[in-house]
Amino acid sequence: MSKAVYPGSFDPTTNGHIDIIKRASGFVDTLVVAVLENPSKNPLFSVEERVEHIKMLTGDLENVCVMPFSGLLADFVKKINANFVIRGVRTITDFEYEFQMALTNRSLNKNMETLFIPTSTQVLYLSSSVVKEVAMFGGDISDMVPEKLKNIIVEKFESCAE
Ligand code: PNS
Repeated sequence: MSKAVYPGSFDPTTNGHIDIIKRASGFVDTLVVAVLENPSKNPLFSVEERVEHIKMLTGDLENVCVMPFSGLLADFVKKINANFVIRGVRTITDFEYEFQMALTNRSLNKNMETLFIPTSTQVLYLSSSVVKEVAMFGGDISDMVPEKLKNIIVEKFESCAE
């Protein structure tokens, strides 16, 4: 039985994340989407909200579950007995950072492998930061995030501005 972890901040989840989740869930038995709770960052959405968003967006994928995590990814992977980690890669710049992270993780957990999935071309330009920047200035994020999440993000920025 293969169990993979797809970790990230998911603040917010983008169409790029959903692309990777759908594709990865097609070739593993279980995919655990692991949402980082990072006290040093000031996220737009709390970890509980981010977990709920992904649960809402992946409800139709039976082998996907969503969990929060904090601390080292290498420890989380060991704790839940996963076989490997999945990361989406968009550019060479992404790859340099991802490669360093994969090697660091394997030095911390010798059984931990990282699999890189190239992002689909339609969502190549996307990142959570881009979505936040566009939404903050009232731009249209319809092509960037799932329809169900769009209004939640727009409303969050409206409530922040009040
Ligand atoms: O979506 P992101 O922000 O690119 O995800 C980054 C993430 C969550 C995968 C990474 O920051 C992480 O694994 N953080 C946990 C702390 C850790 O294990 N750091 C050591 C790896 S270099």
